[in-house]
Amino acid sequence: MELSKEPYKGTRDFYPEDMYLQKYIFDTMRRVVETYGYIEYGASILEETALYKAKSGEEIVNEQTYSFTDRGGRDVTIRPEMTPTVARMVARKRQELAFPLRWYSIPNLFRYERPQRGRLREHWQLNVDVFGIANIEADAEIIFVSYQLMKAFGAKEESFIIRINNRKLINFLLSDLLKLKPDEVYKLSKIIDRKDKLEASEFQAQVATMLADRTEAFIKLLNTKDLTELASLIPSNNGVKELLELSELLKARQIPNVVFDLSLMRGFDYYTGTVFEVFDTSALNNRSLFGGGRYDDLVGLFGEEKVGGVGFGMGDVTIKDFMETYGLIPKYKTTTQVYICPINAEYFQKADELAQSLRENGINVVVDYTERKLASQIKTADKQGLAYIICVGDEEVETGKYKLKNLHTHEQVEVLETELLATIKSS
Ligand code: HAM
Repeated sequence: MELSKEPYKGTRDFYPEDMYLQKYIFDTMRRVVETYGYIEYGASILEETALYKAKSGEEIVNEQTYSFTDRGGRDVTIRPEMTPTVARMVARKRQELAFPLRWYSIPNLFRYERPQRGRLREHWQLNVDVFGIANIEADAEIIFVSYQLMKAFGAKEESFIIRINNRKLINFLLSDLLKLKPDEVYKLSKIIDRKDKLEASEFQAQVATMLADRTEAFIKLLNTKDLTELASLIPSNNGVKELLELSELLKARQIPNVVFDLSLMRGFDYYTGTVFEVFDTSALNNRSLFGGGRYDDLVGLFGEEKVGGVGFGMGDVTIKDFMETYGLIPKYKTTTQVYICPINAEYFQKADELAQSLRENGINVVVDYTERKLASQIKTADKQGLAYIICVGDEEVETGKYKLKNLHTHEQVEVLETELLATIKSS
């Protein structure tokens, strides 16, 4: 049987043009978050399975992880998300770290999912988290950074919307108002989490299995968009108070596209307060782009004093789909600037000398050693998207003058060897 040329299901090969885009995405992410003082950390892709069992949620641990037993008998999981890892790292050095922390990372994560648009088995995810700020200012900053990231990728305000909700409010509705038992709260919150993926009738049917004749009233409540009205009904609920405060802070930061959405759950069990999600508003790509929230109990799970965290994860796949939808993908540009074409092997040494002196001055140069005709060499340079070619032959070596041709503009200038560098740099 022939070996397959395809990458493993749900993963991607990154050819240079794909890598160029990936790098653009990561560079943009880094640039934005670093302006807010977030600093980078990293960790291994392998963790002990117990780490995820603690809080990530059953779905992700039972159905979506790549787990195995190592040769020493340890249960190991390839990380499906970064939050448990970062919480572990914070707990591990809690005594030494200078809180509040503003940390980010761009790890690759692995989830055993059914590959589809926006969902793969390996993706990279920018994680931006604050640790050690108890008040809502941190939640507002995190959402503001998300908003600024969208702007940095070229998004217009009308192309995306930020939905916000609060776990304290949802828990109050499900436990106190509906008087559901903890396992029922869990079950119903998972149904609500799937709301967008279900037909309205199917959603209603699933809710009805739990709430019977209270279904209609509950769904009506879920669709409430008016936070002030809700606040007047349950003024003492902390979730509502936090949401009101958050809305004010986001208004003060002049983010126009924030909406309250009581049905926004977010899958993970560890969120304890604010949850938010950024959605694409276009009909072509109407889906969740990324999201996050506050988790005040994760660090404490490691036997340390509680340290609250709030953050989000932004995936490379969904942001790329978004950029495609809106025509925001930058044009590929190779990092190599100059292609030197010796007319035959006799001129390799001279070509190397020229190349080396340019490289020492910060220009990226390749020399064509194929001994092909000049026309073929130039064709390769053009196909690879290089800007400049310099040919090296008898005439050039005798006169000391080189033709520097720009393949993008088709302009050609003849310059002395000593002027090559300055000419390239000035254009
Ligand atoms: P999450 O919602 O599971 O949250 O993932 C965050 C984002 O990562 C998603 O909105 C999406 O952009 C991307 N993503 C997730 N799974 C996939 C996949 N299979 N294929 C492509 N993209 C994917 C978390 O992971 C939380 N740990 C985020 C967080 C950080 N919360 C607080 N801090």
